[in-house]
Amino acid sequence: MERGKLVNIVLSRHSSQPVYQQIHNHFSRLIKSGKLTPGQKLPSIRTLSQRIRVNKLTIIQAYSYLEADGLIYARQGAGYFVNRVVASDLTLRSRNISYTESHFAPAQKVIISEGGSSFFEQYIASLQAQHTTGIIDFSSGFPRSHGVDNLQKIAKRALAKPLDNLFRYDFPEGQLILRQQICQMLLQQGLEVLPEELIITSGSEQGISLTINYYLQRGDWAIVETPTYHGALSILENIGAKVIGIPMTGAGMNLELLEQYLKSHRPKLIYTISTLHNPTGITTSLTHRQELLRLAQQYECPILEDNAYEGLNFDKGTAPIKALDNNNLVTYISTFSKTLMPGLRVGYMVVTGKHYRELVKQKALHDMHVSTVSQAIVSEYLASGQFRRHLNRLQTHNLQSRNAMLQALESYFPEAVTWTIPKGGLFLWAHLPDSFPIQAICKEALAQNILVANGAAFFPGVGYPAMRLNFSHNIEQIEIGIKTLGNLLKKYSSLVAQASLVAQAGKPVQ
Ligand SMILES: Cc1ncc(COP(=O)(O)O)c(C=O)c1O
Repeated sequence: MERGKLVNIVLSRHSSQPVYQQIHNHFSRLIKSGKLTPGQKLPSIRTLSQRIRVNKLTIIQAYSYLEADGLIYARQGAGYFVNRVVASDLTLRSRNISYTESHFAPAQKVIISEGGSSFFEQYIASLQAQHTTGIIDFSSGFPRSHGVDNLQKIAKRALAKPLDNLFRYDFPEGQLILRQQICQMLLQQGLEVLPEELIITSGSEQGISLTINYYLQRGDWAIVETPTYHGALSILENIGAKVIGIPMTGAGMNLELLEQYLKSHRPKLIYTISTLHNPTGITTSLTHRQELLRLAQQYECPILEDNAYEGLNFDKGTAPIKALDNNNLVTYISTFSKTLMPGLRVGYMVVTGKHYRELVKQKALHDMHVSTVSQAIVSEYLASGQFRRHLNRLQTHNLQSRNAMLQALESYFPEAVTWTIPKGGLFLWAHLPDSFPIQAICKEALAQNILVANGAAFFPGVGYPAMRLNFSHNIEQIEIGIKTLGNLLKKYSSLVAQASLVAQAGKPVQ
C-alpha cells in the first residue's frame, strides 16, 4: 500500500469514539484486510502526529492497542511494523468483538480520592467463604491450590537439612541463595538484576507498603490506575496520601491524562500493575511501558511496578518497566503467593541505587526478615528444577478455566454486559451498564451462594458498576456460578428496563 494512503485517516473530532480508537481502528482494518502486509512499516509517531494533527501521546495510545492486539510490534529505534496476526488471541471474542476491539474504556473521569477503601472487609469475606461449604467464591484473589503434594515433599526436604541456618535471626534482605535464584528467574522475564538489588519481603503486600511509606508522606499525591488493586489503595489511604485515579483503557492507564496530572499535581509515586492487571487482567505493551517511564522521568516521579501475576502469563509476556529503567526510578515487586502458596508469605522487591540500603533498613524495622523456613522452602523448590513445569501446569489449568468462564459468560450473561479477556492471571473484569444496582446484585448473589467482588472496591471513589471474577475454579463450579449470576443479571436487566419505561410514561408530554 502506498505510504501516503496510510496516513489518510478520516477523524471525527465529535465522535463518541476517542481519537486513539479511531486511529487504532484505521490500522486494524488495513492489517486485517491484508492492505498492510507483515513486515510493512507504519508511519512514525512524529510523522503521523504532524500529518493528522493529533498529540503524540494519542498516537502512542493507538499503537499500544495495536501492539497489545498482536497486530504490530516495535523494533527499538526502527519504528513499528506489521506482525503476523496471531490467530489464537484474535479468535477469542467477547460478544464477537476481539479483546482490544471490545474497547475496554468505560466512560470514566479521573477520580480524586474520596477514601473509604473496603479491602479489609472484602478480604475477610473471602476468608470466611473459604471456610463455608457450598459457596462458589469468584471474589477473592486467592490462587487455586495446585501441586500441593509436590510442595509438601519439597518442604519436607528443605526442613530435613541441618536447621542451624534456619534457626537464627537472619539478614533483613533475605537469604543470599534465594536472592540468587530469583535473579535467575527474573532474567528469563527480561529483567537483569543483582542479588544485592533484591529484598525478600513478606508477600508483595509488604513491598507495596515499604515503597509507599518510603516515597510518600501524609498529604502527598499518588497516581493509581482506576480500577486498581484495593490492597494498595488501602495502604495509600492508611498513610493519608491523596490519590489520583487515572482511567484504565484497554492498553493501560490513559497516558494523556497521566501527563496532565503529573504536570498539575506533581505526585510522589505512580503505582502501576503492568502485567495481568488486578482487577482488569490487562497487560500493557512495550510501547506503553516506554512512554509511561518517559513521562515519569520527565516529571521525576518514581514508579512502583507491581507484577504479582507475572508467573501466570499464558504467553511469554513483555519485559517489565523495571528492565527499561536506567535511573533507579522504578521499584519492582512480585511474589510466590500466586504461583506456589500465599501462606508462605514470600515476595520480593527489586530496588536499585541509593534507595536499596534505606529500604533494607525499613524492612528490618518492620519485621526483621521473612521466615527462614518459608525462604528455605521456596529456595528448595527453585533448586529442584520443577518450578517451570509447575507453572506450565498451572497455566494449562488456568487457561482451561478462563476459557470455560468466557464460554459461560457468552451463554448466560445479558447482552449489555461486556468483559475483558486476560492473557493469564486470575481475573476478568465484567462491566455492567450504569443503571445496574451492583451492590444489590452482589448481595443477592451471595444469598444464592455466589461470592463476587463488587467492582466499587477497586476505585478510590465512585467508579462504574463492575465485578471482578476469579476464573481459577473447576469447570463445573464456573458453569453453575456463572449461570446463577447470569440469571440474576437478566432479572435486573428487565427490572431496569421496566423502571425506565415507567419513568418515560410518567414524563409530561412536551
Ligand atoms: C496486584 C497485587 N499485588 C499484591 C498482592 C499481595 O499479594 P501477596 O502479599 O500475597 O504477595 C496481591 C494479592 O492479591 C495483588 O493482587
